[in-house]
Amino acid sequence: MSQLETPRYSAELDFAIDIARAAGALLLRYRERALSVTTKSSSSDPVSEADRDSESLVVDAIRTRFPLDSILGEEGASVEGSSGRQWIIDPLDGTVNYLYGRDEWAVSIALWDGDQPVVGVVYQPTTETCYAAGRGGGATRNGSVIRIATTQELGGCLIATGFAYEPRLRERQAAEIAALLPRVRDIRRGGSAALDLCSVADGRADVYFERFVRTWDVAAGHLVVEEAGGQVVSLASEAGYVGVIAGVAGTVEHVLSALARP
Ligand code: IPD
Ligand code: CA
Ligand code: CA
Repeated sequence: MSQLETPRYSAELDFAIDIARAAGALLLRYRERALSVTTKSSSSDPVSEADRDSESLVVDAIRTRFPLDSILGEEGASVEGSSGRQWIIDPLDGTVNYLYGRDEWAVSIALWDGDQPVVGVVYQPTTETCYAAGRGGGATRNGSVIRIATTQELGGCLIATGFAYEPRLRERQAAEIAALLPRVRDIRRGGSAALDLCSVADGRADVYFERFVRTWDVAAGHLVVEEAGGQVVSLASEAGYVGVIAGVAGTVEHVLSALARP
């Protein structure tokens, strides 16, 4: 692409960046309040008015600007559009970190056109870090181009991962990590799948994998990784969940074969 060409989806990308920043500002303001918190899939799965109001802000903005598009949001947004495009939102990824006053949480906004991601934005308000990607236009962190790390042998891999909220799924995840841990450099559990994917995209981890995530956890980070030169591969999962492994091609293969031969 020549420098003078405007990449496809650039208007949607700019829009998503603006909306992610606005939702991030709302979430920072809400941290000052005493939030009402309830739980969802299990007693360890919290949701607060911050999650819901952040989603409303993002959904209202999309409906106004792109009224023909479908929308899927973690906190219940479900809009059926006619354009063949779908916005997929996690209005607060890393809710547990958010509620504990930790920094690792983000707003995640993706646009998929048919079966491929075309816009991915992950914004971390506490550090004012914005990861953004438009299909074919590369991936950036606060406007600077990012590239994935080069291939690592299994023993040199720093692996980002996370855990579902349901105890029966956690047991399976714990067993998988227990088998992998002695064979890799180390494991990181950051608490936000969206930021984990971005950490792979900018070389702060070699591979991210998680067997039981939801579409909205990974829909935006997926494109950030691909546009940074990596690949995202599906893992066998459970109904209602998706499994994902992401990294540079050779490294993903090393981890995949380790997972297949514990
Ligand atoms: C969670 C985070 C976490 C991952 C979980 C997700 P939430 O999302 O992304 O890192 O391990 O699987 O459910 O609940 O904070 O939006
Ligand atoms: Ca999430
Ligand atoms: Ca969430």
